[in-house]
Amino acid sequence: MQEKKDNEFNLILSKADIVEIISSYIELKPQGKNYFGVCPFHDDHSPSMSVSKDKQIYKCFVCGASGNAFKFVEDYLNIPFLEAVKVVSDKIGYNFKLKQSKEDIKNNKYYDVMELATLFYQNNLKTKDGKEAREYLKKRGITDEIIKDFSIGLAPNKNDSLYKLLTKKNIDKKTLSELGLIGESDNVYDLFRNRIMFPLKSPKGRVNGFSGRIYNQEGKTKYINTRETVVFKKRENLYNFHLAAPAARREKSLIICEGFMDAIRIYSIGVKNVVATMGTALAKEQIELLKSLNVKIIIVMDNDNAGEMATVSIGRDLLDNGIDIGIVRLTGKKDPDEYILANGPNAFIDNIKNPMNYYEFMEKNLRKDKNLNNSVELTSYINDMIKLIIESKDPLFMEIEVNKLANEFNLDKSLLLSRINMDEPIKEIKAPTKEKPKEKVKKSTKFDKAFKSMLYYMMNDTNCMRMFLRRNLDLPQTRYGLVVDNLVYYFELTREMDFASYISFVEDYEDVSFFVKEIIENQKNEDFKEEDMKVFLDIVENTIKEKLILEKKKAMQNELDISMKKKLFEEIIELKRGMC
Ligand code: CTP
Ligand code: MN
Repeated sequence: MQEKKDNEFNLILSKADIVEIISSYIELKPQGKNYFGVCPFHDDHSPSMSVSKDKQIYKCFVCGASGNAFKFVEDYLNIPFLEAVKVVSDKIGYNFKLKQSKEDIKNNKYYDVMELATLFYQNNLKTKDGKEAREYLKKRGITDEIIKDFSIGLAPNKNDSLYKLLTKKNIDKKTLSELGLIGESDNVYDLFRNRIMFPLKSPKGRVNGFSGRIYNQEGKTKYINTRETVVFKKRENLYNFHLAAPAARREKSLIICEGFMDAIRIYSIGVKNVVATMGTALAKEQIELLKSLNVKIIIVMDNDNAGEMATVSIGRDLLDNGIDIGIVRLTGKKDPDEYILANGPNAFIDNIKNPMNYYEFMEKNLRKDKNLNNSVELTSYINDMIKLIIESKDPLFMEIEVNKLANEFNLDKSLLLSRINMDEPIKEIKAPTKEKPKEKVKKSTKFDKAFKSMLYYMMNDTNCMRMFLRRNLDLPQTRYGLVVDNLVYYFELTREMDFASYISFVEDYEDVSFFVKEIIENQKNEDFKEEDMKVFLDIVENTIKEKLILEKKKAMQNELDISMKKKLFEEIIELKRGMC
């Protein structure tokens, strides 16, 4: 068998011409018997790679990269050997059958359906119904070329047009449901409706999910993403990875940003080595993917607090995994997309060329919110810096930083060094001004209890969820606000509440899942009666109204204008009347 394959590989190689194959990626110029080009495998400026037509091999005399056509494609596109064989075969019109794993064969069916859905959305964006969406995209500077490159489409503002179309093509309901494209309550309906559709692709470049963005509806969740499905594994995806990987190998670096709109913008100014995390966290699998490229990772998160925190934690994770990193913080605009639109591509590229290292960034970050004239805060800053110096394990960084600290704050250098060389870990000294006031241990009120039970019922029961939505409550800011948003978002996606699925869904949202755990603690109920739900809703609604009445009473007392007083009074009566 192996011999047969070897023969087949040789056959393909004998039909392929290495000069033609390599020329399809980089420019080659004839010189004597050979061809020369700029080597893509090191930072080359003059043509150091020679390609021999006779021997059918390439060799770079600077970095030593060499091999046959398969090897070139394998390294240039950063793909496995067998896929490189397939690419070369396709180029010469030879039908090479990649042996697929059982998993791949099973999943092909699913990928094909995702491809059909993509085409459907793409077409729909081009029709009369897509006018408003096209205008929205144009206003954001998303050109037709970008729309094409990223296969952007539009989900119609109809209940079940995708479902109908794909059913006509003999695709069964179960498959569509497994792919997260449809939901079912009384009727089957499309999960993505009236949203601009961005296909999400696996690292190999196959559409496995979608993100749908609102463009003409206020107040809806901005993005809806495909949930975990047979082919969509959020933890294994990075937006644009398949296009960014070969570019990253060439550039020896990869930019990671938060939003896929940012990645699209950066890519469209010709900086193709860019991926988006689609959030502020990186999963272990995503880190592995980044690591496989073996290039420097440049972190460019949003210019807000969340972006700052993400930079600290992603930077730490990548460093701990032995990955070389650089950090860029943009200023003035919210994210790379807005930055580039406001300042132009070159300003962005300049930033990317001069990233900070992790320690420079951390130093800035540590002193940002501190008042270094206050001796307690200064002590805390210096201790943090010492910890950072120890962590860096970099003697040069230590020398520079210790000198800086000694000079800037007039400290004894040997004292700092002795702290650094101390065996014991440094105890953290917290500035008292920074400490959060201790929360009083409040006995949980009737409202708190009802609120928590209400949320717990919503997690478990579709009817209870509907009852909540029908009330249309103007909820006060509570610590569980995130949970409410998340629950409603989940319900929008699934139209059905199921405790186990919700819990696995919310695990992806770390800041929410913390509160969910709090809510489900000590809840023992297994029977979700509507009468009980009504009681919780009444308590919540009444509490909100009571609070509003109190506020209005206060306002009435301070109001001098008689007609305003009257208006407030009437509003209070109205609220009281509405109380359950
Ligand atoms: N995101 C999401 N759901 C939301 C908000 C954000 O899934 N409700 C994800 C998206 O993948 C998005 C990323 O988090 O790409 C970053 O969010 P954000 O910065 O809010 O989005 P932008 O990239 O700025 O998108 P836009 O410019 O369209 O507002
Ligand atoms: Mn944005």
